[in-house]
Amino acid sequence: MALIRASTMGSGLTGTSDKAEGVTSFGLDRLSDKLFISFSALIFEKTGIFLKSEKKELLNSRLGKRLRACRINSFAEYYDYVTGAGKASELVHLIDSVSTNYTSFFREQAHFDFLVDQVMPELIGQRSAGKEEMVFWSSACSSGEEPYTLAMVLDDYFENNPGHRFSIIATDISTKVLGIANQGVYPTERVEKVPPKLLKKYFQKGTGAGEGFVKIKRSLQQHISFRHFNLMGDFPWNNAMDVIFCRNVMIYFNKETQAVLVEKFYRCLKPGGYLFIGHSESISGIKNQFIQVASTAYRK
Ligand SMILES: C[S@@+](CC[C@H](N)C(=O)[O-])C[C@H]1O[C@@H](n2cnc3c(N)ncnc32)[C@H](O)[C@@H]1O
Repeated sequence: MALIRASTMGSGLTGTSDKAEGVTSFGLDRLSDKLFISFSALIFEKTGIFLKSEKKELLNSRLGKRLRACRINSFAEYYDYVTGAGKASELVHLIDSVSTNYTSFFREQAHFDFLVDQVMPELIGQRSAGKEEMVFWSSACSSGEEPYTLAMVLDDYFENNPGHRFSIIATDISTKVLGIANQGVYPTERVEKVPPKLLKKYFQKGTGAGEGFVKIKRSLQQHISFRHFNLMGDFPWNNAMDVIFCRNVMIYFNKETQAVLVEKFYRCLKPGGYLFIGHSESISGIKNQFIQVASTAYRK
């Protein structure tokens, strides 16, 4: 099996320091306040991610790595480089180096329980078998653990409730994590939270060079299409989704950005569709049309 390490733990702008990753700034200048503001504005414009001033040191070390990779010695030079004409490809690297990718299988298990116990019986009740595919969107899917968890839960559910089909669109702004998601290969310790029955059913154990890794089975992967997508852009879907997961990303956006996003999610859900957000997030301070059905679950 082809291997790529799922080294996404703690790779974003969370936490307070990058010292554990051994980052030093030798040979580089330091990020000035003025340039921090310029980079923050650029990152905000491109991703919606709002960096508070406390994140300056962290941005300094994250960008420092990228500067070294580009053999550039000053942040000012790197700013000109990344904003220069035809530098969209470098912008992808900038975004990769600042996005927060922490995720895990069965993260916030209560959402999956709610989905199976409440949402699925309701959605199934609304349609006749075989007529229409149910569409799920993992809208900030990181390295794939969230959409694969969703796929396992749904595939298992539909085995007991045959006659319906589903597909999952899984998107993220970071090409780095999407590469990992597409491969579907994870170190064994990353699947500790997967129930043994599902582990056996949906993963292949690596052997030889793949020892210590597991790979998602093709039969499960075929339900998911991974795509590069920026939540700040226009959504090409209208009344199209049954369920949207947007978990643990809105926390990095400011209120105005969250409000616009929540309205876009509302429009792209089918009537009666559901939105799940992360357990530390809330849309209650934002004007919206959703009906809250659980602490972090909303219905159109
Ligand atoms: C902390 S992870 C959350 C992953 C998963 N939803 C979960 O809850 O475990 C946040 C993800 O949001 C993505 N992200 C940040 N800004 C984004 C944007 N503007 N559009 C799409 N994805 C974005 C990051 O690349 C990252 O993979």
